[in-house]
Amino acid sequence: MTPIKNCILNKDTSINPIWLMRQAGRYLPEFREIRKKNTNFVKLCLDSKLSEEITIQPIDRFGFDAAIIFSDILMIPYGLGQEVEFKKNFGPCLGNIDLDKFEKLDDELLTNKLSPIYDLLENLSKNEKLKNRDLIGFVGAPWTLLVYMINKVSPKNGLSNTFFKDNILIDNLLNILDKFIKKHIRNQIRAGATIIQIFDSWAGLINTNFDKYLYKPTSSLVDYTKKLGVPVICFPRGIKDYVEFCKIVKPSMINIDYNTDLKKLLNDVDIPIQGGLDPKILLTDKNNLKIEATKYLEFFNNHPYVFNLGHGILPETEIEMVRELVRIVREFK
Ligand code: CP3
Repeated sequence: MTPIKNCILNKDTSINPIWLMRQAGRYLPEFREIRKKNTNFVKLCLDSKLSEEITIQPIDRFGFDAAIIFSDILMIPYGLGQEVEFKKNFGPCLGNIDLDKFEKLDDELLTNKLSPIYDLLENLSKNEKLKNRDLIGFVGAPWTLLVYMINKVSPKNGLSNTFFKDNILIDNLLNILDKFIKKHIRNQIRAGATIIQIFDSWAGLINTNFDKYLYKPTSSLVDYTKKLGVPVICFPRGIKDYVEFCKIVKPSMINIDYNTDLKKLLNDVDIPIQGGLDPKILLTDKNNLKIEATKYLEFFNNHPYVFNLGHGILPETEIEMVRELVRIVREFK
């Protein structure tokens, strides 16, 4: 059994597997090299050959215990027919929503549009370099996708005043997203994903109607994935109450952010835990990295724990610091 599955399914505490969110990305010079020549990000995500190379890059360098496919959560809005563009030094920009078009779309069309992602997974599952490693497929949670689809850009300064204005639009989108995200999960699993992670990067912005925006839509995806026999990791970044979330949603493992109250978590959560370290620690020095990483390792010494960060690795991170982090984690037990 792979180290991460052993941790999730057997609750094994004798090792701490490690992988990092956004491990296939801009902090790697070999990624930047490919990116420079491929200015259209969506197109790059749909190039299964290059995506495979990028997915493997961090495995080659650091020997992480899992590969996460090089793709993006915004491939779902793209697959639904909304324009998605990634602007340099700005981030994603989405086009207008055509609800009629979304409602008429059938799942085969989405599968066809996103087929290079499934080819990528099929090829990766045959890749020798991933032997005894997990291959993580992923989706954005309905709430976070709703945020991008309606807000059109990252809500770095909060949501626009008009965000909740159109109830019909929101209800319809939540239904459509539930259906198509499930299709995307199922397709990824069929093509070889051994674990699914659900990214709810903007969950911290929800301050009302938690059932409608957080618990219900996420539970629906978690139940669905578990029924397909595949472990599912949730990352509801920035929420106040991870304990409540775990009780209601029951993911196979929970990824925490760096503001999570660890004591409360350890007392009240009995599922395996992943992540937590502030990615900014990787921008400091090796001594400090050792102190901070060891805090997590010691804290979760007797709890099934997969080492990861409390959010994606930052583009300015130095390779040497990542190498040091892997060394610290590998030497701990
Ligand atoms: O983790 C990995 O290495 C796999 C690939 C991956 C990407 N995006 C590639 C990417 C994953 C898992 C994602 C998830 C994703 N995408 C999330 C959830 C995780 C998180 O960070 O909160 C979100 C919110 C997105 C949407 C998105 N994609 C944004 C906001 C941006 C621009 C800013 C940023 O954070 O990079 C992207 C672009 C993106 N996705 C890049 C990469 C490598 C950078 C592209 C570039 O400019 O070169």
